[in-house]
Amino acid sequence: MLRTTLSMITFAFLVSACSQETYDPSYDYFSFANTEQVVTRHIDLDLTVDFSAEQLRGSAILHLDRIDASATEIVLDSRGLHISEVYVALPDGPMLPAEFRFGEEDAIKGTPLTVSLPADFKPNSKFRMRLDYRTGPGATALQWLPPELTAGGKHPFMFTQSQAIHARSWVPLQDTPAIRITYSAVIHTPRQLLAVMSANNDPLTPRSGEYHFDMPQPIPSYLLALAVGNMFFAPLGRDTGVYTEPEVLDAAAFEFSGTQDMLDTASELFGPYQWGRYDLLVLPPSFPYGGMENPRLSFVTPSLLAGDHSLVSVIAHELAHSWSGNLVTNATWRDQWLNEGMTSYLESRLMEVLYGKDRVDEERVLGFEELLLNFETVVPAQQALAPRFDSGDPDDFQGTIHYHKGQLLLQYLENAFGRDSFDKFLGSYFDDFAFGTITTERFLDYLDENLLQRHEGNVSRSQVETWVYEPGLPTDAPVPTSATLDQAAAMALAWSQGELGLNELPVDSWSPQAMVHFINSLPADLSNDELGLLDKALGLSDARNAEISRTWFIQVAKRQYRAAYDNLEQHLNRYGRTRLIAPVYGAMAENGSDLELAREMFGRARGKYHPLTIANIASVLQLESN
Ligand code: BES
Ligand code: ZN
Repeated sequence: MLRTTLSMITFAFLVSACSQETYDPSYDYFSFANTEQVVTRHIDLDLTVDFSAEQLRGSAILHLDRIDASATEIVLDSRGLHISEVYVALPDGPMLPAEFRFGEEDAIKGTPLTVSLPADFKPNSKFRMRLDYRTGPGATALQWLPPELTAGGKHPFMFTQSQAIHARSWVPLQDTPAIRITYSAVIHTPRQLLAVMSANNDPLTPRSGEYHFDMPQPIPSYLLALAVGNMFFAPLGRDTGVYTEPEVLDAAAFEFSGTQDMLDTASELFGPYQWGRYDLLVLPPSFPYGGMENPRLSFVTPSLLAGDHSLVSVIAHELAHSWSGNLVTNATWRDQWLNEGMTSYLESRLMEVLYGKDRVDEERVLGFEELLLNFETVVPAQQALAPRFDSGDPDDFQGTIHYHKGQLLLQYLENAFGRDSFDKFLGSYFDDFAFGTITTERFLDYLDENLLQRHEGNVSRSQVETWVYEPGLPTDAPVPTSATLDQAAAMALAWSQGELGLNELPVDSWSPQAMVHFINSLPADLSNDELGLLDKALGLSDARNAEISRTWFIQVAKRQYRAAYDNLEQHLNRYGRTRLIAPVYGAMAENGSDLELAREMFGRARGKYHPLTIANIASVLQLESN
């Protein structure tokens, strides 16, 4: 979804770096860790959250297994970390100082950190390693927000975003989805603030400034997460609840009141929920994504607070990752479509049960249209679900293609084999690979064996391979349709041709999704007067629903409808989620007159944005990001 405009640029650079003969689809090109020799099983963190220095400080104890007896060193991933001491120890043995050195820094991957095992240290297969460290100013996983950028305006806030390869900027570790760790943590904060993690948060924890966490289920490093701020908790159901600042707690509890139901439904559909509680954390506006599936505690953007539950498909999505992604994890970032495509499909299944087929059909059509738009801008080789990646930035691989094309492939299989067989297949897939990882190729083998060959469906492995390795869509791909969206599109046309008055549009019966589609279906040649009438009648510039605003302001920028530029700028200041703002800047940059204005607006708003969002928009506006 993000950085699609970057795709072309990134791609040119990727192809030149990939060599046909040596590319290994199961190798993680984005980690320095020597996991074929030594594997981390558990990490104990003890960190102080220092808001004034904007720094995490403390220690990480890695519990390791030496799986290659000849290994004499351990290579960890790091980015900008300052390491003061490293110790190693045998089980029950004393900590002994160990030598360490940093390798050459790579702009995307960070810096390899190599620890030598002492010569007289003959580790048996298990040992532990303690690293005393602090984070650096450029820690890409961390955002430190001053009080002004929070809802309450009185307390600072900090949060992590570790996916894809940012965990290494706050913990020295083997930062690859190929291995899984359990963890414990002690987090020291200012007394009046609360810390939460992707672990066993206790909703009743008193505020003490010292918080203890335990994460007994093994997770890949990109799911390590921490947030600290003036947060409070509201229960949503038996095992569900929401954390956020008190100023938005009621709105959040209302918006996400269906979460327990969603969790129960998901467990019925996809198999037992393996993680204990499922809570949400609603972050300040700068959170760069719609949501992030941190286990037991999804992080979400406050832009979902539309007041009518209309954007909860994002929650369905993050919850669904508890199966596809968190339970069964992509082996490398090149297999990300297995996380995101499968999750988008599960999201639609959940939404169908909870909100009905019409709503899901609407969302499918909108997704499909984003996919078609993406095909127009992404070079063919990158339109494969599993392209070859051995360089570039894994954050840039995220595109609509993984999500919607992946979802469509699974929909295609469901259609071909029937829901019953397909659901059984999915159930056994989650069982067989639970708490494991999977490559695209292993998935294809498994699919072939357990679905294609076993059931009547007339889909061959090579047909599926076309989806996975070829650009665009196969000719027999399903095409989502929605009667309500068709009607909204027809009305856009009828109104523009004078066949229907503004007051005759049945907007009250429209879902926000129908409104989005209506706006996207407006003909190109509307006059400013017509746009003005429409804006006024439908309240588009003041819409509370962030997806409607996004769609409207993209059109405003494309059409250079300047009367709404003040509102457009407000939109750019209200939201920090990249999806909601980058395409608006993009439309200004591309409309032939407003690149400079867009840069000025960005200059005024960028202090409110997350570094990842800043980098994205800077590239959209052809600026250096610093
Ligand atoms: N895991 C992703 C967010 C992500 C992907 C972060 C890649 C970093 C790198 C999350 O589950 C996601 O897909 N979020 C979407 C939600 C939407 C598709 C419902 C988002 O933020 O837009
Ligand atoms: Zn996702």
